Amino acid sequence: MIATIVPDVRNHYPVLLREIISIITPQYGGTFIDCTFGQGGYTKKILSFEKTKVIAIDRDLESLKKAEKIKNKFEDRFIFKNIKFSELINLKLKDKNVKGVIFDLGYSYTQIKDPKKGLSFEAIGELNMKMGINDFSAKEVINNLDEKELAQIFKYFGDEKDSNRIAHNIVEDRATREITTEELVRIIDSSKKKKNQKTHNATKVFQALRIFVNKEISELIYGLINAAKVVKKDGIIAVVTFHSLEDKIVKYFFKSLSENKSISRYMPKGVEKINLFKILSKKPIVPTKKEIQKNPPSRSAKLRYVIKKEDFYDFETDILEKFDHLIRIENFSTRL
Ligand SMILES: C[S@@+](CC[C@H](N)C(=O)[O-])C[C@H]1O[C@@H](n2cnc3c(N)ncnc32)[C@H](O)[C@@H]1O
Repeated sequence: MIATIVPDVRNHYPVLLREIISIITPQYGGTFIDCTFGQGGYTKKILSFEKTKVIAIDRDLESLKKAEKIKNKFEDRFIFKNIKFSELINLKLKDKNVKGVIFDLGYSYTQIKDPKKGLSFEAIGELNMKMGINDFSAKEVINNLDEKELAQIFKYFGDEKDSNRIAHNIVEDRATREITTEELVRIIDSSKKKKNQKTHNATKVFQALRIFVNKEISELIYGLINAAKVVKKDGIIAVVTFHSLEDKIVKYFFKSLSENKSISRYMPKGVEKINLFKILSKKPIVPTKKEIQKNPPSRSAKLRYVIKKEDFYDFETDILEKFDHLIRIENFSTRL
């Protein structure tokens, strides 16, 4: 008889852990940067191999408790910093022999279930959505940006088809009452032309707001640029994404620097252009059926990675120009 695996999502499962470990090979030792420490799932596994060091980063101060426990056990091999990964460059890692930089984007189980954070449409009360180290909350966004700006956020960050109508109804409603999480869900429900059968009607708008509040587009772009600077020759950058916008950015960054487009500032003119990265697999790695069964939220995860081929710290990239239309939308926040 085949035993049924009952999904248990009460715990945090590090997504694609086995695959990440087989790519970064910590069994040979080295310094690794875990840019999204979360519950420390990846970090703990890396530290279980001798001769490894981990510098872990997380913008959410809640991660500190987990980090302190790990610090007690691995005092000499572990450092935790409560910063955003866009600030990775401030850690002065230029002369450290960084063998791997890993990102596991998205939110940890504890963040999603934390009612104070209000990341989920199942949360009750005031809109928030701050992951940690933020300048404004979703409440300020919903109450202050104009209709056109809200519509663009929902369209470009959430791929929401009914973005105009939802934005219009928000602006109309907010004139008479405060928009709480429940109220926003109600507005979205009543604005949708077609009711979604598979996912909750509010999924896309909530995704868009989380991206906007946490500036996830520029975070990812600067995180990738910084990772590419600090990782040494033959080192790895590995990124797990959870939605198509993130995957698009990661794919472009890796591909554009692997196709004779990159060049170091220090290269003399006339010298043949070189590639910064080597891509081993064009297709992303996705979780096995078994992993999805055990941890259903892993179903949308995609893992891409590159090997740095050259030892340049500075390099040129057009990623900021390529995604300028999205960064402009993020910059609506300067009005808040
Ligand atoms: C999916 S969880 C990571 C889980 C982790 N791999 C583990 O095994 O426990 C993502 C974490 O990244 C953090 N995070 C997201 N964006 C960040 C950023 N820009 N800078 C620093 N931390 C970030 C979140 O606060 C969250 O704790």
